Amino acid sequence: MCSGVYGCTKEGYTRKGRIVFLRPKLYTAYMKLIFQFGSQPELSRAELLSRFPNLAHGRVIATRFYSVNCDESPEWLLQQLGGVVKILEVVEGISQKPDEMIVHLADHILKQTIEKPKVVFGVSIINAPEFKGAGLAIKRSIQELSERSVRFVVSRDPELSSATVQLEGLLAPRGVELTFLKDSSQIIVAQTAAIQAFDEWSFRDYGRPGRDAKRGMLPPKLAKIMINLALGIAEPEKMAVYDPFCGSGTVLTEAALLGFGRVFGSDILKQAVDDSKESLVWAKKQFGLDDTEFDVFKHDASQSAQHVKPASIDFVASEPFLGRPLKKGEQLSPLEKQQLVSLYNKTIRALDGVIKPGGRLVFSFPFQVAPRELLPLHEIIADTNFTVDPLLPEQKTILYMRADQRTGRQIVRLVRK
Ligand SMILES: C[S@@+](CC[C@H](N)C(=O)[O-])C[C@H]1O[C@@H](n2cnc3c(N)ncnc32)[C@H](O)[C@@H]1O
Repeated sequence: MCSGVYGCTKEGYTRKGRIVFLRPKLYTAYMKLIFQFGSQPELSRAELLSRFPNLAHGRVIATRFYSVNCDESPEWLLQQLGGVVKILEVVEGISQKPDEMIVHLADHILKQTIEKPKVVFGVSIINAPEFKGAGLAIKRSIQELSERSVRFVVSRDPELSSATVQLEGLLAPRGVELTFLKDSSQIIVAQTAAIQAFDEWSFRDYGRPGRDAKRGMLPPKLAKIMINLALGIAEPEKMAVYDPFCGSGTVLTEAALLGFGRVFGSDILKQAVDDSKESLVWAKKQFGLDDTEFDVFKHDASQSAQHVKPASIDFVASEPFLGRPLKKGEQLSPLEKQQLVSLYNKTIRALDGVIKPGGRLVFSFPFQVAPRELLPLHEIIADTNFTVDPLLPEQKTILYMRADQRTGRQIVRLVRK
């Protein structure tokens, strides 16, 4: 999986030979990287800049891409994040004249795959339909430049998925994926350096015991994003995180995988407590998480948490109870919405004693998608010691929605005064 081109360090193996990249030494030179975000680009950017505020000087291209100079390993960066699907490295020195560009890229691909007898490559086209034929043109140019056999991975979609990149072997030195991306009138071409391990995510999502779709499923990627929004630049090994509505333990499992030293969870239902414990035991076994300390207990989040020592928690990341499941065309009543506001307010007040000063809480609160109606945040935090900590300079909170869902999630970060 490690391309070698980027000089990353392979360190240790866990489940099925999964490679864990330890944070490598900084590179000697900065690379121009492009982060390709998933389906919630603003949330992904907020996550990236929370963990790596030194990358704030970058710039958004075509909504889903973020271009920035960086000296960290793409593999390591990608492993830290939930909202980035690919990291690309800009191919330097390409001409904007199409013929010259094609020859340069053919030569680039040959060099990147030099160790292999066969050249395999694929192409993704973003916002640049005029480059639709670029893949075939590069293939012809490779054939003119070299005797090696060449395979161009064709796809019906203009963009290759992470799954295709992995299954077709399009990471150097096995193969190459190039992305053509239009930035105003200029064309940028970038080579995929790291991809999200889609099989790992699906294993965590569906392979985990104790998952319960009826009680509400938090997508694991969103759980990881929320934890990162809380964590910021702190080192997870030294931190304690708590989910007071732990359900089947998605947040707890992702926090353990991110390397948190202490992971606490509670839920009003004994079944949820048992499921979370089972998930954590499973994760410990599957991923060899020996250094994480866990505690999961039964507790009503609106009451003060006596199981947790005062001022011992650094962060809370939680998807709380979102209200009863809704039938088609149904909405929560004003009274039900008021009850949720009251539950969240009491929970935040109850957390006051256990959170360290400066500690952060990240919640996903429900909102009505159509007609759009958010819960009153000022009431949720009324008479608490917490204020809203904006997720992006231009945006206090971020809305997360999936197509055809009636209830969306408002992601909110609070900081203790
Ligand atoms: C959306 S699920 C939580 C998902 C969970 N955060 C995860 O990571 O998988 C909401 C959970 O809140 C629990 N719950 C409801 N009311 C509660 C309360 N007053 N105190 C604690 N837990 C509560 C439910 O039992 C349910 O397990």
